[in-house]
Amino acid sequence: MMRVNLTVNGAAVTANVEPRLQLADFLREHLLLTGTHIGCEHGVCGACTVLLSGAPARSCIAYTAACEGAEVHTIEGLEGDLTAERLRAAFSAEHALQCGYCTPGMLVTARDIVLRLPDADASRIRLELAGNLCRCTGYAGIARAIERVLREARAEAGGLVTATSGVISAQAPDGALNPAFREADNEQRGRDDEAAEQTRASDANSARESTDPTIALRLRIQRPRAEIWRALHDPALLAACVPGARLVSAVEGHIAGEMQLALGPIVALFTGSGSLTFDDAAQRVTLSGEGTDRRSATRLSGTAVVTLAEAGSAATDVAVAISYALRGPLVQLARGPFVRAFATGAAESVARNLERRLAGEPSVVELAHLSLSRLLMRMVRQRLRRWLHLR
Ligand code: FES
Ligand code: FES
Repeated sequence: MMRVNLTVNGAAVTANVEPRLQLADFLREHLLLTGTHIGCEHGVCGACTVLLSGAPARSCIAYTAACEGAEVHTIEGLEGDLTAERLRAAFSAEHALQCGYCTPGMLVTARDIVLRLPDADASRIRLELAGNLCRCTGYAGIARAIERVLREARAEAGGLVTATSGVISAQAPDGALNPAFREADNEQRGRDDEAAEQTRASDANSARESTDPTIALRLRIQRPRAEIWRALHDPALLAACVPGARLVSAVEGHIAGEMQLALGPIVALFTGSGSLTFDDAAQRVTLSGEGTDRRSATRLSGTAVVTLAEAGSAATDVAVAISYALRGPLVQLARGPFVRAFATGAAESVARNLERRLAGEPSVVELAHLSLSRLLMRMVRQRLRRWLHLR
């Protein structure tokens, strides 16, 4: 066995591996990053392409042990990356995928083309794609998608920058970076810094303005507002009401703990920490935190802003604004609508549990269970209500 240290999608990874273990197998089987596909296993088809210290590489013919000290980005690590997001949208718009098997490797290569060759024309794009095989599309849609993103970049170089996000700043192998995207990236970084500052200041609006997904919920709890406000200052009581949560420590507004979530047969255990800040005048509490599920190497970070309003003398209206970012393999199983339905269900469980606890009874829901069938039913109900204008 050989010891190897890598950075994978921004997280430090140390492992003991067989000398002949290929990087693709290490990513898929040890880190569960199954977005990296394996086709030929001979370095021919390009399905396994990842970024190795910023440059595309075949992970099926790269020994993991030989990658000591390297920075690896898989398709999962490109979540939120400016160029990759534009390419994803362009792939959809131009019908650049059918079965999708080649798509992760294709996107990694396409991102490299866009960043390295800002002036590439149709024939150069096709030449650059020669190392990525697609058995379905005939390549026309893929080439059009890349052309579309390059066209947008050139237009933005004239002042039409409309970028939405950027994560990876790794340079292309020859150091060139499409200037329009560099500008957009810098702009986005400025906006990200501003958003982080707003979050630190516990401004509820920052959650809505963040580039991360946001969820807004409203609940009514059948207890007086003063009682709920006192309960929010008691982390142990709150943790007892949150399905799947376990509080490890709570010291002066800093908390540490665990949160278990079940997504169908997959159970994730997020371990992390956070902070609570209170605004007495506005009756508002802000919880910011982050955690990691070590088994899947999925990271969750977010902010929840809870604001109380009186609803008569015996009830309280609770507004919850959640902004979150999920990075890692479980993203595939926890897309926006599912997370929204899950958050709604979890918030209702917390409200129910809080009512019971404050009435001196035990909590009723123990584990946050992301049941796919239940969530699908909930989503269908919500859509029907919206279509029938019941809400
Ligand atoms: S699986 Fe690596 S190139 Fe085909
Ligand atoms: S979309 Fe099926 S192999 Fe490319």
